Amino acid sequence: MENRQLHIDYEFYDSLSELPIRLQHLVGQSRKISAMGYAPYSRFRVGAAVLLSDGTVVLGNNQENASYPEGLCAERVAVFSAKANYPEQPIEAIAICSNPMDFSTSVPLAPCGACRQVLAEYENKDKKDITLLLTSLKGPIIQIKSVKALLPFQFSAENLTE
Ligand code: THU
Repeated sequence: MENRQLHIDYEFYDSLSELPIRLQHLVGQSRKISAMGYAPYSRFRVGAAVLLSDGTVVLGNNQENASYPEGLCAERVAVFSAKANYPEQPIEAIAICSNPMDFSTSVPLAPCGACRQVLAEYENKDKKDITLLLTSLKGPIIQIKSVKALLPFQFSAENLTE
């Protein structure tokens, strides 16, 4: 037996102005679209802004349903829309912003496990690391340079063949 460790690198920004301007803009777009999330059941709105390699930005927000499991997270709404419309464009970055309706928070939102798996699929397919920017409407921003940092020991297409 041998003990092994995993280590993840991430960047913590106290303020948006420390980021490059195009990423500041992406965070701004995720914040704006979060306000239109349809979240009457959880009252927890989330916005996501996906930046593609050619500069196109695709936005999404969470969409809930009276039959609770049928809703979808903001990240998957944005990523699936991006990949439906621009299948050949690798994803460069995704900004994710939480916007709860009943309280104010500055805790950067970390994507759920299912969204990490979906992001990993495209990172692997396109062989291009996806930068994640985790935010709330205000407060610090966490930048992570690859989905691999958030989802080690991945189940991927490679596992489906010999
Ligand atoms: N949600 C997202 O949109 N993204 C996440 O990464 C976490 C959770 C949504 C799903 C649901 O509509 C609400 O937030 C509460 O879980």
